[in-house]
Formats: sequence, C-alpha cells, structure tokens
Amino acid sequence: MAEKLRIGVLGSGKGSNLQSIIDNVAAGKIPVKIACVVSDVEEAYILERARKHGIEAIYIPPGKHKTKLDAESEAQYVKCLKDRGVGLGVLAGFMRMLKEPFIEAFPNRIINIHPSLLPAFRGLEAWKQALDYGVRYTGCTVHFIEMGMDTGPIIMQAVVEVKDDDTPETLHQRIQVQEHRIYPEVIRLIAEGRVAVKGRKVIVR
Ligand code: GRF
Repeated sequence: MAEKLRIGVLGSGKGSNLQSIIDNVAAGKIPVKIACVVSDVEEAYILERARKHGIEAIYIPPGKHKTKLDAESEAQYVKCLKDRGVGLGVLAGFMRMLKEPFIEAFPNRIINIHPSLLPAFRGLEAWKQALDYGVRYTGCTVHFIEMGMDTGPIIMQAVVEVKDDDTPETLHQRIQVQEHRIYPEVIRLIAEGRVAVKGRKVIVR
C-alpha cells in the first residue's frame, strides 16, 4: 500500500481546526499521518492538543519580526517539516506570513483556512470586518498559499449567514463550525490526489 501523505500543521492559537483534523484522521476519514504540529507561540494550546494525542509538538521561535518569521527561523521551519517527510503544510491559525523560501520549498503544498469568503475581508479578524461592513453572508475559505496575504488559489468555501443579533463571537463560532467541516474535507481530497492547480483555478476531480 502507498505510504500515507504526511502533513505538518502550523498554528499560533487554540487549535480547534487541528482538533477537527485529528478527529477525522482518527475516524479513518482522511488518509494522512499528522507528522508534527509546529508553533511560533511556546504556550499555544495547539501544541498541548498535539501532545495529548501523541503527536510531536514543536516550538520554533519566530525571531524579532511581528508579522513574519526571521530568515533563520523560516529556514528552521522548512527543515523541521522536510526532516519529517512532510508533503503538505497545513496552516491552522498560524499568525505569520510565509515568505519565498518557505513557499518555494512547498510549491502548491501549503494550505490555509481563512474566516471569510475571500477575496473579501483579508487579514485579521475577518469575521469582525464582515460584521462591521454589514454583509448578509460571510463564511470561510481554504486556499493554497502564495506570496501575498490570503490571495492564493481557492480550493473550497462555505457560506455562513450573518444574523441581525450576531456579535463578533457568535459569528466567528458559526464560521468555525464550517471550518471544521471543510478543512478536513480539503485535506482528504488532496491526500487522494484529486486536487490540481491551473493558474488561479483549482480543479477538484
Ligand atoms: C480560524 O478562524 C482560522 O480561520 C484562522 O485562524 C483561526 C484558527 O482557529 N486562520 P483555531 O486555532 O483552529 O481554533
């Protein structure tokens, strides 16, 4: 039998998306091995979740920049994933932008989940941006990473209706329910070799 795709999950926060991936792998729904979970925040709960499930949890200091990794740090991230045979990088609430060396080491092999219907509301707290703007529908997007913030080819989206009495918290909660559904689904499709990128378009067979 072919070896399972090895994924490396990167996150800076609570890791609820990691949990949904762990649960789907455990249920036999996604044919991947979670090789490691890596964080730029030493005390991030995502690392604790990984340890609880016997997954290698690694903290790599990000360096002095706030929104990206220092060059040496970025090289360590790449080496860490390569050393573990990772074939797909999965960003799950990783709060720093990746630069050329990382992206070139994993061409069309890094995915991200963003809490809006891209290209609307890139950047931070996208659910709050959507609420403040007054849109009726928002949602979440899984996309490949390329240079640029939240701009890569879109793989899958899910729509969430905005309610009149939503707060940022209630809206984000409902978006996360959809995130936990579509992120494992995309990972499954990639693991099954059913996702191809043609320019800006993603073809799912
Ligand atoms: C999610 O809302 C995701 O869309 C965004 O960061 C958040 C991560 O949440 N990129 P969690 O750490 O997976 O709970």
